[in-house]
Amino acid sequence: MSKVAIVTGAARGIGAATAQRLAQDGFAVAVLDLKAEDCADTVASIESAGGRALAVGADVSDAEQVQAAVDRIAAELGPPVVLVNNAGVTRDNLLFKMSDADWDIVMNVHLRGSFLMTRAAQKHMIEAKWGRIVNLSSVSALGNRGQANYATAKAGLQGFTKTLAIELGKFGVTANAIAPGFIVTDMTKATAERIGEEWEPYVAKRAAAIPVARAGQPEDIAHTVSFFVSENAGFISGQVIYAAGGPRN
Ligand SMILES: NC(=O)c1ccc[n+]([C@@H]2O[C@H](COP(=O)([O-])OP(=O)(O)OC[C@H]3O[C@@H](n4cnc5c(N)ncnc54)[C@H](O)[C@@H]3O)[C@@H](O)[C@H]2O)c1
Repeated sequence: MSKVAIVTGAARGIGAATAQRLAQDGFAVAVLDLKAEDCADTVASIESAGGRALAVGADVSDAEQVQAAVDRIAAELGPPVVLVNNAGVTRDNLLFKMSDADWDIVMNVHLRGSFLMTRAAQKHMIEAKWGRIVNLSSVSALGNRGQANYATAKAGLQGFTKTLAIELGKFGVTANAIAPGFIVTDMTKATAERIGEEWEPYVAKRAAAIPVARAGQPEDIAHTVSFFVSENAGFISGQVIYAAGGPRN
């Protein structure tokens, strides 16, 4: 069986760390993001550690680009049997100020994007009679002020994950979700900026509210992905792990 993984939104942050970790675990990794050139650093870090990676530019919310990307990955790296739906955006605002566009882009990237990527990739997993799908949810799925769009999308991904687990289990494919808490990335840096807080004190304040008394790092989530993808995790499907340094925050 081919050991090929796709990680979406892998130019930076959690996606980049996950791509690096899966490469260490022995997978050839398709590093997918909006622009192929933005994937160069992730690809270089994998190759310099002796791994195999391919930079792929695609918008996960565009059906044609997704099909072309998955076809290219299958041809150049081999049939993908692992998919990590990680690409994401935020457009935070209180409900009364949230625009139609803020709602639509968040739904399109997280929900439509995960749907399109999974539909295109599952064919290869079913042919291989083995597969692993990991979707990035969030603690925001439990509700978060200013994130009506994002919380809805992240809760939706949990329902998507459980349904994939039910439909694809008999083909040797598991589907699970990770709901990270506060992770230090460009996404959370942008949040601090939007609410007018200095980055370092903001991280310290968030860390103080987390039971393990530190902020999460992209590698914390990459480790959780690695666990779900591992051979011995084959009896775990349709689950959500809150990787948040505590029960939910
Ligand atoms: N950082 C956190 O605290 C946190 C917490 C919970 C969940 N998450 C989720 O984890 C995932 C990764 O978050 P991150 O913090 O690394 O974010 P990030 O903003 O650092 O990286 C997201 C990546 O997704 C890419 N992307 C956006 N739209 C895309 C599209 N249409 N097609 C392809 N790629 C696209 C971006 O270009 C970027 O490289 C997201 O789904 C996010 O919602 C993050």
